[in-house]
Amino acid sequence: MSLSIIILAAGKGTRMNSARPKVVHPLAGKPMLQRVVDTSRLLNPQQIIVVIGHGSEQVTGAVTDPDLLWVEQTEQLGTGHAVMQCNDLVTPGNDILVLYGDVPLISASTLQQLIAESEGTAVVCLLSFMAANPQGYGRIVRDATHHVQAIVEEKDASDEIRAIHESNSGILLVSGNEYRTLLSELDNNNVQQEYYLTDVVKHAVARGHEVTAVICDDEREVLGVNNQVQLAQLEAVYREHQATQLMNLGVKLADPKRIDVRGSLETGRDVSIDINCIFEGEVVLGDGVRVGANCVIRDSHIGEGSEILPMTMIDDSSIGANNSIGPFARIRPATVTDEQAKIGNFVEIKKSAIGKGSKVSHLSYIGDTEMGSQVNIGAGTITCNYDGANKHQTVIEDGVFVGSDTQLVAPVKVAKDSTIGAGSTITRDTPQGKLSLSRSKQLSIKGWQRPVKNR
Ligand code: UD1
Ligand code: CA
Repeated sequence: MSLSIIILAAGKGTRMNSARPKVVHPLAGKPMLQRVVDTSRLLNPQQIIVVIGHGSEQVTGAVTDPDLLWVEQTEQLGTGHAVMQCNDLVTPGNDILVLYGDVPLISASTLQQLIAESEGTAVVCLLSFMAANPQGYGRIVRDATHHVQAIVEEKDASDEIRAIHESNSGILLVSGNEYRTLLSELDNNNVQQEYYLTDVVKHAVARGHEVTAVICDDEREVLGVNNQVQLAQLEAVYREHQATQLMNLGVKLADPKRIDVRGSLETGRDVSIDINCIFEGEVVLGDGVRVGANCVIRDSHIGEGSEILPMTMIDDSSIGANNSIGPFARIRPATVTDEQAKIGNFVEIKKSAIGKGSKVSHLSYIGDTEMGSQVNIGAGTITCNYDGANKHQTVIEDGVFVGSDTQLVAPVKVAKDSTIGAGSTITRDTPQGKLSLSRSKQLSIKGWQRPVKNR
């Protein structure tokens, strides 16, 4: 049976105390709603419909998957009302799976279980859980034979029902043949005067349909976010999950509580990661890579045996094998280093190729540069790549030695094996194998005296 997924995301999230609607707040670097959309895709639905209301432009601006179907719910009259707004869009006959934009950690495998369960005879299949503290949740009411009879909201519940621990996650699946009828029976005769989606359960039971529940055994998957505290708690759950996965793959983490993976992190064997590192986008760490404390690595590949020393940032770059990068290095986009390169402290590299065994050890800026192998760049060297209007290329061929405090004014080429004297400003191409320098001769001024202070 084809599946339509409806994601409810119209609520404002008042308790977030933010100008942004709740579902666009990021969890591990991605808007919460985007996480739910991405998980939805793993179920191969025929359509994904998102119900929005508060801050709808911000929501559609933050989650831009082109195939999503958006439905505006201008007044939030309840979860049932929200689903009803989708009536015209839902492909007739499709089963309906309702998810929540603010329940971001639900896993595809749990949802698969729900779908598998509903492939029997059940008309409604809901996802419940044994809440440690059920306060605020709808409770699952079962009869003597354990068949689900109804979901009763906390506010409408008797003390007896409030004592039930089995709680409603809110996630539920309704069979395509019955869902329009069941929705049409909803009313708002309850304490909150809302159209409760949960009432489809009692209507299905009244019609003699079978209702089942899958009990989610990991409460953390169904936790919702209503405020910043809960968002931080879910972030911690996510972090712990990622850290555990990495450790199971053999990665040594100095402290599993102090690593953030905001994207995907692929690791080889015997990788070690010190505290407070952040990995964003798609990062690959080869065999034996060691990452020091407080590094931020985004969309990059680190070759095997390389060491990234503390306080280093690497963005959209490829580091070769057996490199030493940092401490305090900044590797900006489109940098590629060959094997055995060394980039030291307070060095910024941008859009450059660094050849095999080349070293930029201290206090330098290298941008738009093609650097060969076995080059040594002295401390304080700057490639002047920008003339105020355009960027220009610097070429530094194999075996070059650049003395400290040199400016290479691009476009310029430093030929193979040439040497640049310290303190030079190089504006013209240098000849191969020669010493080039551009500083004036050292003078000692006869009879010169230090100024003395006026009285
Ligand atoms: C709902 C369930 C409750 C369950 C709980 C789990 C109902 C009636 N109750 O209660 O059984 O235990 O979730 O967290 O469904 N929304 C809209 N439009 C609306 C109303 C809500 O889009 O008109 C969205 C909200 O943005 C939110 C979600 O639906 O993402 C849940 O709404 P909320 O008001 O938080 O429902 P609860 O009262 O928590
Ligand atoms: Ca809620």
